[in-house]
Amino acid sequence: MSNDLIIKDLQANIGEKEILRGVNLSVRGGTIHAIMGPNGSGKSTLANIIAGHPSYEITGGEIWYKDQNILELDADERSKLGLFLAFQYPVSVPGVTVANFLRAAINAHRAEEGKDPKQTSIPVAEFRKLLREGMKALEMDDSFARRYLNEGFSGGEKKRLEILQMTMLKPSMAVMDETDSGLDIDALRIVAEGVNRLAGPSMGALVITHYQRLLNYIKPNFVSVMMDGHIVRDGGPDLALELEEKGYDWLREELAGAA
Ligand SMILES: Nc1ncnc2c1ncn2[C@@H]1O[C@H](COP(=O)(O)OP(=O)(O)O)[C@@H](O)[C@H]1O
Ligand SMILES: [Mg+2]
Repeated sequence: MSNDLIIKDLQANIGEKEILRGVNLSVRGGTIHAIMGPNGSGKSTLANIIAGHPSYEITGGEIWYKDQNILELDADERSKLGLFLAFQYPVSVPGVTVANFLRAAINAHRAEEGKDPKQTSIPVAEFRKLLREGMKALEMDDSFARRYLNEGFSGGEKKRLEILQMTMLKPSMAVMDETDSGLDIDALRIVAEGVNRLAGPSMGALVITHYQRLLNYIKPNFVSVMMDGHIVRDGGPDLALELEEKGYDWLREELAGAA
């Protein structure tokens, strides 16, 4: 079974507008792969489609993970395959606490793994320990677990919750869209430390960002650049530095020259 996330010629529209125009990308399992690109290039659209967001019309292509075309699966089935998909704008759920949400998510995964029905629910003590350790690592106050999901959360709190979920669910591939989330430097550091702690042979990550600055904290193995709805260049970490130094216009001009 392949742990690589493979996107083949993905095309998608919003309404009449063509947004993704043939995205080809392979994210190798157990590696950190960054997608960079100017605003409006389609990065969030790609992340949302991987997550199964319903607003997009997919007009062509495939996304493969663990030998399945995940475009045929519901968002919760994708999650049970080990994909962790963070929406850029998480919904708030009044009445559901962070702790209840996390426990439900863990139990859903355990049920999928075919545990004996009596053992499907995580024992309370085990859950509490996992939650406490996860929150401690993220410098979160205990009271956070009792708050309603995303209700009134700051940008930094939403991001911490994302990493807490990752810590507890242990996905094999995390897709994170960091753009536009207005992280201050503290939140950025905590998110980056969380990703660095979790990423490794058992978890790959697709990190989407407009800013090179995130990549000062999270060191990618591979960098791909998205422009105008497709990937225009693949490279190593040097590519991110080159873009920081020369901007996106340099690449745009080079591509125009080559056409
Ligand atoms: N809900 C929407 N309705 C219409 N156009 C949209 C919508 N969401 C995104 N777009 C358009 O899709 C393009 C890609 O947007 P997006 O995926 O958010 O890019 P990025 O994340 O790279 O900034 C932009 O031109 C944007 O205006
Ligand atoms: Mg975006």
